[in-house]
Amino acid sequence: MSGTTLLIHDLKAAVSPAGRGPLRGGALGDLEVHSPASIAVSGGRIAAVGPPGEVLRDHPPGPGCETLDGRGKVALPGLVDCHTHAAFLGDRADEFELRCRGAGYEEIHAAGGGILSTVRATRAGSEEELLTATRRHLDWLLRHGTTTAEVKSGYGLDKETELKMLRAIRAAGETHPVDVHPTFLGAHAVPPEFSGEAEYVEFVLSEVLPEAARLAEAADVFVERGAFGVPEARRYLEACAGYGLALRLHADQFSRGGAVPLAVELGARSADHLENTGEEGVRILGRSATAAVLLPACALFLGLPDPPARALVEEGAIVALATDFNPGSSFCSSLPVVMNLACTRLGLSPAEALCACTANAAHVLGLDGEVGRLAPGYRADVLVLDAPDWRYLAYHLGGDHLAAVVKSGSLLPAG
Ligand code: NIG
Ligand code: FE
Repeated sequence: MSGTTLLIHDLKAAVSPAGRGPLRGGALGDLEVHSPASIAVSGGRIAAVGPPGEVLRDHPPGPGCETLDGRGKVALPGLVDCHTHAAFLGDRADEFELRCRGAGYEEIHAAGGGILSTVRATRAGSEEELLTATRRHLDWLLRHGTTTAEVKSGYGLDKETELKMLRAIRAAGETHPVDVHPTFLGAHAVPPEFSGEAEYVEFVLSEVLPEAARLAEAADVFVERGAFGVPEARRYLEACAGYGLALRLHADQFSRGGAVPLAVELGARSADHLENTGEEGVRILGRSATAAVLLPACALFLGLPDPPARALVEEGAIVALATDFNPGSSFCSSLPVVMNLACTRLGLSPAEALCACTANAAHVLGLDGEVGRLAPGYRADVLVLDAPDWRYLAYHLGGDHLAAVVKSGSLLPAG
């Protein structure tokens, strides 16, 4: 399609991560600020961002062009949530209450609850029910400004349910405004019908992976005491890489178990969590192409130490932020809340937090040059905030400033 199809005009400001590709070290937090600004959209892409007079002159609205009055408002790129477990059935409200009364997350998991209780609920439901639930969860993410999300499987842990999850995740993405990127988390926990990790991993690799690899873009493993050790994680990830899947790891959430060096050695896209990563892990990630995906809502939810965000930035790591949205360890669907936690607890500036859940999160999903910036050629995923300053997104904890969301060039209905 040619010509301007949507013009967002006379914004107080349009704010975007600067540059191209991931931002690391001192460049994290580099913003390109146009003030005042208009944004011209052509089809699903951004055609121009800049001074209103120039944009209007070079990209005049043609017949049928929609317009959005940006006066008094600010525009940002749609947020990218690069780590979610948004496909599940049931909830864990009872477990939440138990934890509030002092029970530990790992203790509940070891007793067959936690992840395994969501596995039971997800196995018991139909694909249709799972699709409906996933779409509802995507609605929650979108309401807080997420326009692209990764969604993991991992609550099936048998062939039928893992594939059901991946099909439902894909179908949700095809029928929902949020763009969805499915990840095969076949190694999330050992289900009770298997006696040990190694036996379960062999089953996954021979019975599930060949079909799962056709439905997923990436593979993930929970490296942790009580879940999977480094040898099994390596076996799983190497096999997944053989099918062309990008690699992700849940690393150092409760204990430091060698997941970070493994991630870097295998060229994984990311090592996620890192609540218990020490100096050595920070140093390794600092020099690597493996991103550090930090999940401060999970740390808050479980009372874990905060991940070493500042040290990771100083060492030059690619730092991204995500919600880890799931029913057990992070029932949080708001990236703006995560941005607030990144600022108030992890020591990031609002600009660093913004880059971490836009440009850098896009990088984790292999979407460099596609989403995460307001720049010509990028997909036209735009948030319009009714706020005097873009930092309200991080600053107003639990605030609700989204005046409009544009997804792939289309203005989404309010609500
Ligand atoms: O990222 N750590 C493992 N997996 C998830 C939790 C999943 C759950 O509790 O259901 C996480 O925290
Ligand atoms: Fe997770």
